[in-house]
Amino acid sequence: MARVAVVTGGTRGIGRAICQQLKSDGFSVVANYGGNDEAAQQCADELGIEVRKFDVGDHDAVLAGCAAITSDIGEVDIVVNNAGITRDGTLHKMSYDDWHEVMRINLGGCFNMAKACFPGMRERGWGRIVNIGSINGQAGQYGQVNYAAAKSGIHGFTKALAQEGARSGVTVNAIAPGYIDTDMVAAVPEPVLEKIVAKIPVGRLGQAEEIARGVGFLCSEEAGFVTGSTMSINGGQHMY
Ligand code: CAA
Repeated sequence: MARVAVVTGGTRGIGRAICQQLKSDGFSVVANYGGNDEAAQQCADELGIEVRKFDVGDHDAVLAGCAAITSDIGEVDIVVNNAGITRDGTLHKMSYDDWHEVMRINLGGCFNMAKACFPGMRERGWGRIVNIGSINGQAGQYGQVNYAAAKSGIHGFTKALAQEGARSGVTVNAIAPGYIDTDMVAAVPEPVLEKIVAKIPVGRLGQAEEIARGVGFLCSEEAGFVTGSTMSINGGQHMY
């Protein structure tokens, strides 16, 4: 029976490309999403995968959502923590809510999903967790103290949990995407984005599929010796 993979924020952008990759790699894929029912339905129809709506920042909702996936589809062997939001603004304009929502969803979501799925992976002796960090968690970014802190936290979370899973066949890794051609990046004001792209050595935005291929590798059998690592996929913008 195919292993079950859950991708949070999996119905659009990078998450959707990850779902497509993992499906073509032979996994039974479930895309979680938070709000956009129309995009979720389209994703389900086009990719032929299950979609499940729950808020990854809500601990109880995640436990219930993952329990339902387990009983309806099977034990979760792979989690890709991809769900994330931006609430950009310089610190003096950033509200507490902008700070808290980004921490709750982007970093809290990783904790909640791990609480729901990591114990079972350990018991069964196999698992893969891939957390989607960011170049901006590695290098910082003007106007993103909330997002950079949450993404930086993801990198620490990854290295700590990797140590806890290593003896049980559960690998935990991160991917740090650079600027990828998604709705999230399209929301950056054009003159600002132009300046950012000008600093990318490869000379263009990345494609979601280029992140997805990295996730596919980290979820494979062959990647069993890779744990606690961060794969930077950023066109050379930050060499970490
Ligand atoms: N470094 C130094 N100064 C900067 C700067 C930078 N990187 N960016 C802007 N400034 C300066 C501007 O030049 C401007 O100064 P002047 O008035 O002297 O010209 C001043 O800061 C204010 O800039 P804005 O007019 O842009 O201010 P704003 O309040 O309208 O907007 C902002 C601020 C929301 C942070 C906006 O600059 C912005 O959206 N920046 C992009 C942030 C970003 O990169 N977000 C990434 C989103 S995608 C993502 O996060 C995915 C991922 O993982 C990569």
